[in-house]
Amino acid sequence: MSKNSGKGDKYENDLPQETRKQTFSEMIYDPRDGSFFGRTGKSWGQLLIFYTIFYIILAILFAICMQGLLATVDDFKPKWQLEESLIGTNPGLGFRPLSEQTERGSVIEFDNKKPAEINYWTGLLDDFLKDYKQTEGRNMKHCDYNQTHNPNDVCVVDENQFGPCSSANGYGYKVGKPCIFLKLNKIYGWVPKIYDAPTPNMPVELQYHLNHTSVIQRQNIWVSCNGHYGKDKEQFQDISYYPRQGFPTYYYPYLNQPGYLSPIVAVQFNNPPIGSMLDVECRAWAKNIIYSGSIRDRMGSVTFQFLMD
Ligand SMILES: *[C@@H]1O[C@H](CO)[C@@H](O)[C@H](O)[C@H]1NC(C)=O
Ligand SMILES: *[C@@H]1O[C@H](CO)[C@@H](O)[C@H](O)[C@H]1NC(C)=O
Repeated sequence: MSKNSGKGDKYENDLPQETRKQTFSEMIYDPRDGSFFGRTGKSWGQLLIFYTIFYIILAILFAICMQGLLATVDDFKPKWQLEESLIGTNPGLGFRPLSEQTERGSVIEFDNKKPAEINYWTGLLDDFLKDYKQTEGRNMKHCDYNQTHNPNDVCVVDENQFGPCSSANGYGYKVGKPCIFLKLNKIYGWVPKIYDAPTPNMPVELQYHLNHTSVIQRQNIWVSCNGHYGKDKEQFQDISYYPRQGFPTYYYPYLNQPGYLSPIVAVQFNNPPIGSMLDVECRAWAKNIIYSGSIRDRMGSVTFQFLMD
């Protein structure tokens, strides 16, 4: 009997211990060993001390690194300028309106009889130009070619000079003469070397325009827009630029002046063809703007497509 019962005990002991079902409240606080979330107070305390020390050391290391970094940078001047910087010295040209729906790419498509489609593009332009509403301020100046100004001043970009491309005129979209806005990327300290006389590789229209501009008003980075391909070139000769066909030099250099705004040029297509896609290329002209029209490495120019139904 006793042997049997002994055997029985042994046998029972060999059975895997049935794990006690934990209730939810026991998971939080288990009164048997006084543990919270599976750890005793002492264990939690050790953990807390470990992490406190760990994070303090981490914070000290981070502070040392930041100190080292900040000691070498200036609040207002970028550390790497012009040739040294990765952005490089060649300012890129951009255009607006640019759809935020990436599948549209650089195509500006609308039916000028459908207000919703027009409003889509004019809304994007409203958004783009809202920073330009600010024209009065402590360091805001209305600059002109024959004036000098303090380099810390900001030259106003006056919206009222966009003529038919002003927001009041709906940027020309309603009347089928849509405007595109061009802007050069900001590069700290970059000063344009301008063309004050026509050069043979300029489009004839631009050469003509230079010839008919007074010498003092030639202080511009010129822009020219054209059909990208032969068939497109024939289609639009009728383009206007507001307030002028270029970015005046008095907006440069950009020195991170508070409130600085890049100059913009509004380009109006007065007679775009209806129902066929146009491929437009706009180019910026200065002696120190390198041009490349290649698709992979476009420089000094921008292309977009235009489809008005
Ligand atoms: C030069 O400045 C005067 C006023 O200071 C102005 O009347 C004139 O139109 C300016 N000339 C040019 C070419 O901007
Ligand atoms: C611009 O003026 C120059 C010199 O006066 C002249 O040789 C050239 O043909 C003119 N170009 C145009 C496009 O009018």
